[in-house]
Amino acid sequence: ITIEWDAEAAEKGGYPHFVLKEINEQPDALRRAMLGRIRDGQLHLPELEKLRKEGLFDRVQRIIIVACGTSYHAGLLAKYVIEQWARIPVEAITASEFRYCNPIVGPETLCIAVTQSGETADTLVGIRQAREQGAPVIAVTNIVASAITRLSDAVLYLQAGPEIGVVATKTFVTSVVVLYLLGLYLGEQRKRIRSEQMSAFLAALEHLPDQVQHILDQAAGPDDVIAPLARRMASVSNMMFIGRGVGYPTALEGALKLKEISYIHAEGFPAGELKHGSIALLDPDTPLLGIATSSHIYEKVITNIQEVRARDARAIVVATEGDERVKQFADDVLYVPATLEAFSPLLAIIPLQLFSYHVAVARGCNVDQPRNLAKSVTVE
Ligand code: G6P
Repeated sequence: ITIEWDAEAAEKGGYPHFVLKEINEQPDALRRAMLGRIRDGQLHLPELEKLRKEGLFDRVQRIIIVACGTSYHAGLLAKYVIEQWARIPVEAITASEFRYCNPIVGPETLCIAVTQSGETADTLVGIRQAREQGAPVIAVTNIVASAITRLSDAVLYLQAGPEIGVVATKTFVTSVVVLYLLGLYLGEQRKRIRSEQMSAFLAALEHLPDQVQHILDQAAGPDDVIAPLARRMASVSNMMFIGRGVGYPTALEGALKLKEISYIHAEGFPAGELKHGSIALLDPDTPLLGIATSSHIYEKVITNIQEVRARDARAIVVATEGDERVKQFADDVLYVPATLEAFSPLLAIIPLQLFSYHVAVARGCNVDQPRNLAKSVTVE
């Protein structure tokens, strides 16, 4: 007998597209990102030992996270948690702005470069400038020996495995986890996190891969609600994404995914900012996607979603399993398992990635190689 096969199909491991394969690889990618770093209920980042011995983590006054695209969204999430856990002021800034804004940096400013490829031109130039002014640099990247690693004092690898799809999926969740581990490390160094808090954070992190798997299993099963919803939404022209706190960068990343692979105009907003302009765009043909997972500002997000529905816009809501009340405020609910508030983006982004994927497939788009986009942008 002859078996027909081609090398590319084999590489996709049975999935129709690399993007879908990589979305489904996220539980393993997350496990690899934490491998050796969480051991016996303790956090280990030996890559930072040299900087620790030099006293950097005692003296650092400010942190600047420099990144582009999806990596920038990971940086925005890191800002929230590092400030909470380590009480060090953090700014996340787009590299193309950072490099031209004559930033105030020096030996007490820790610069964190987030770049999955390690080759993004704007990020490299911005970081080189910061170094020239004496700033210590930690790189967060997926590619061993990439250009950013040669500009950095320490490197934290994502260990996500190769990502072929142009849009970042598993490198996003692993960037977030690695930045969170760095945040916990800083909190520990600054004696802001008690050991029982640390244990709770690490336990919740270790549970995430199984929780992501649970979302993926449901989406692959007969009760999937994401693909049918995506097919119904495939003909819209505009979509809005809103969230608060860590739900805000999640909304930005959800909107970016939709833009990148389905070419639908999508914007992410802080939920409370909607009424200062963007709400004017809402009509029955512009669905809203709200991130309303359990959080200290859950009620505020619900209020914002109600404002939207008052304009007859359709509301799709990402919520925490067990939240039945949210159904009153939503046309469709995408449930994710419960976790600590800080970690909720790592679960909430999964249905958004799948939603974008299925919308793009329904629209006949090239999901692995979207028009006009490149995996790494090595020119300005
Ligand atoms: C390109 C890619 C994006 C990515 C961005 C930053 O625009 O298409 O998916 O987020 O570059 O890439 P980096 O490698 O620096 O994370």
